[in-house]
Amino acid sequence: MRIGVLTGGGDCPGLNAVIRAVVRKSLMHYGWEVYGIKNGWAGFVNSNFVELTLESVSGILPKGGTILGTSRTNPFKEEGVAETIVANAKEMGIDATVAIGGEDTLGVADGLCKLGMPCVGIPKTIDNDLGGTDYTFGFDTAINIATDAIDRLHTTAESHHRVMVVEVMGRHAGWIAVHAGIAGGADVILIPEKPFLINDVCDLVKKRHARGKSFSIVVVAEGAKFRHEGDVDGSLITQDVEVDDFGHVRLGGIGNILGREIERQTGFETRVSVLGYVQRGGTPTAFDRVLATRFGIKACDLVEKGDFGKMVALRGNKIKAVDMDEALKMKLVDDELYDLASIFFG
Ligand code: F6P
Repeated sequence: MRIGVLTGGGDCPGLNAVIRAVVRKSLMHYGWEVYGIKNGWAGFVNSNFVELTLESVSGILPKGGTILGTSRTNPFKEEGVAETIVANAKEMGIDATVAIGGEDTLGVADGLCKLGMPCVGIPKTIDNDLGGTDYTFGFDTAINIATDAIDRLHTTAESHHRVMVVEVMGRHAGWIAVHAGIAGGADVILIPEKPFLINDVCDLVKKRHARGKSFSIVVVAEGAKFRHEGDVDGSLITQDVEVDDFGHVRLGGIGNILGREIERQTGFETRVSVLGYVQRGGTPTAFDRVLATRFGIKACDLVEKGDFGKMVALRGNKIKAVDMDEALKMKLVDDELYDLASIFFG
């Protein structure tokens, strides 16, 4: 038996921990061969792969990024490319593929499964926005980085009596903002799920300062939306109009607009920090290393059972298999968590 493993989409702490677990379990327990497919689905299109041995995965557990490289290649964008992948996988002698990725990569795995290519999925993303699993690996590391940044920004906020706006990632879900915001003691948290009125934000900041506080921390998710009175949906701030292979625009920039507006309306000196890619770089937390390892092992067990079209998932404290299309339903921040966070606003 020969299996393929690939990493697709944005890099994320814990990818190497999964690869290591897949290789170790496959070689040592099942006696399979493992091929690493380079740069996401692109490696299947141009048959770019490398055999993975115990030696190739030695020492990678604590390393961020992915030894296999990644890309946002969508084989379903152009006609015939997905079929080429199925044919190439056959020619490479790959009996099953473990795809490690977010909504896009797993969506492709699901599509290829339906074309007859056996795949199992592993949920990866700092955004934690995949359905079917309580947590994706990478998220814990991202919120720890963001929390640490908020703690550090507190010192300048307090010393200079400033409002500090912290823009975090998360795409269309507010998980990073809410978790890091609660953990970091944010005074306002703005998330995509709750389009906001700028006046409400300024009122919260003014209320806090009227209570005698001379600084505030505002955490804003990159996908949070400004709205006007009477408009429920609000609008996204994007960096440009171009979209990637999966039709995603690049988010970001809301922090600066928000910061300017807070300063203008409240008169309080305001500064902005955009955390950006720092949130998904570097070494994974212990939680992410363990989760990634458990996911990798379980994916091999699914391959062994021939249980394809499934994604491994964390449910409570157990690792389960769920239908891949579960992962494709976006998981958003619920009212209960946001209401809890808002007790600390203002
Ligand atoms: O999905 C992870 C993520 O970091 C998002 O939080 C962010 O919107 C996006 O990827 C950025 O993508 P790219 O690496 O293509 O700029």
